[in-house]
Amino acid sequence: MKKIVCFGSMNLDYFYKVTHFVRPGETLSAENCVTGCGGKGLNQSIALARAGAKIMHAGKIGKDGEVLRLALDNAGVDTSLVITTDTAPTGHAIVQVDPSGENAIIIFGGANYKITEQEIDTVLKAAEGGFLLLQNEINSLDLIIRKAHEAGIVIGLNFAPFDPKIAETLPLGLLSYLVLNQTEGAGVAGVEDPKAILIALNANYPNCRVILTLGASGSAFLDEDGMFVTVPAYPAEVVDTTGAGDTFIGYLFAGLSEGMELKAAITLATKAAAIAIGRAGAADSIPLRRDVH
Ligand code: RIB
Repeated sequence: MKKIVCFGSMNLDYFYKVTHFVRPGETLSAENCVTGCGGKGLNQSIALARAGAKIMHAGKIGKDGEVLRLALDNAGVDTSLVITTDTAPTGHAIVQVDPSGENAIIIFGGANYKITEQEIDTVLKAAEGGFLLLQNEINSLDLIIRKAHEAGIVIGLNFAPFDPKIAETLPLGLLSYLVLNQTEGAGVAGVEDPKAILIALNANYPNCRVILTLGASGSAFLDEDGMFVTVPAYPAEVVDTTGAGDTFIGYLFAGLSEGMELKAAITLATKAAAIAIGRAGAADSIPLRRDVH
């Protein structure tokens, strides 16, 4: 089993149950407010651990974020690369969840955006010989990808949240795996249709396996022969979609680190994500491997 270092965000999540997402100029009263542990990086590390992978999380929190380190520890994630700073507060997310279980999220990066070059070098040293998993909720993604590639590290990126400003300059060709949803994929490829997105990305980044998630329609990728392959979603009662994508990614890379074929790893990830969708919260919704059948 390959070791995995997930270098990513750690957020305090504030979930607000709302009748609808707040509109411009409107003040909306939430039906309830619940706090939880989140951040795409933390969620994906916890999903990897719950899937049985050997996982280290690297990231930065403020003095108010120790609960996040504890959540990773409790899930069995190695937190020796998590740094506490007194110069910034912990990142946080304001998550509106509507009656259909959909969400709308605002993030404040805080300490997630205070990572120094020296800290990056330390993380990449630990990732040597293994696998590095990234998302777009920390600073210096460009530098991290370039340095990791130079060090011969296998890199996977979940380009979420998608940022058109950095999409053009990010060295996506240096990645081994790229996971995107349809909107993100369209943003990078400039076309809308799932198959067209995959064909365009494959032409631009031939050394990178691209996995496109399609919500209720499942996910898709191009196989070794360039054939379009889809994996259907599992039916699920939607309670809260927050963290379902992170569950998918954690289980996907756990499967790959065990040597699974891509389609088998995606199938495992799809089952895990269906369970997460039926539960409230982000990190709290991620299932244990023994519950994923
Ligand atoms: O993907 C869900 C996550 O996005 C939440 O946990 C929130 O913190 C944001 O990063």
